[in-house]
Amino acid sequence: MNSKKKLIAGNWKMNGGLAANEALLKALVAGLENAACDVVVAVPAPYLAQVQALTAGSVVALAAQDVSQHEAGAYTGETSAAMLKDFGVRFALVGHSERRQYHGETDAVVAEKAQRALAAGITPIVCIGETLQERDAGQTEAVVKRQLAAVIHLNGHCISEVVVAYEPVWAIGTGRTASPEQAQAVHAVLRAQLSAASEKADRIRLLYGGSMNASNAAQLLAQPDIDGGLVGGASLKAPDFLQIIAAAR
Ligand code: 13P
Repeated sequence: MNSKKKLIAGNWKMNGGLAANEALLKALVAGLENAACDVVVAVPAPYLAQVQALTAGSVVALAAQDVSQHEAGAYTGETSAAMLKDFGVRFALVGHSERRQYHGETDAVVAEKAQRALAAGITPIVCIGETLQERDAGQTEAVVKRQLAAVIHLNGHCISEVVVAYEPVWAIGTGRTASPEQAQAVHAVLRAQLSAASEKADRIRLLYGGSMNASNAAQLLAQPDIDGGLVGGASLKAPDFLQIIAAAR
């Protein structure tokens, strides 16, 4: 067991709008006075400035949902780590399964993105996880180990500067959560892999994501190697997200 603070991150995905964001964040900030964990919201890039202003002075830290693997230049549509930094971004999701699946991001690209984030002083939240087909074929361990191995040795940076999120693809947006035992089993594998790579492995926060909600969060977060959550749908409703945060102590 370790005593690091848990981290609950909401991933809004491609949801929101000026009015909805304001209502959500006002309710969130108002309900957060005694949060025992770190709280992060990963918002669509056009709203970074709005969310930065609405969360100023609160415990809510700002995250991007992606970051370019390039530093600057002719990469139409991309957002660089330095640009994110301009808006007070502290964390960036990299390698979310929706990016891997719909935008062809490979382990190598994910590692480059993590590297760019770190170089700009942004903590990457590296997302990994197997598909249902891979789980059914008994490949879960091999897949997540391969995905994690890609980011374990980032040039000049220590793996302990990274947050890892295990999100089984079959549990994302499906209402089908991994059981606490299933999630813990994978987290234990990841922790062992990290321990073999770094003596600081115990400091690395391993989040679980995939249909985490107000009713199942406490049990998942009670597992010894689950140090927080990456929450999609339930992070769009302030009362639900606040309940998950309250369960993280
Ligand atoms: P849901 O919580 O909606 O399943 O999404 C999980 C996720 O992908 C968070 O990044």
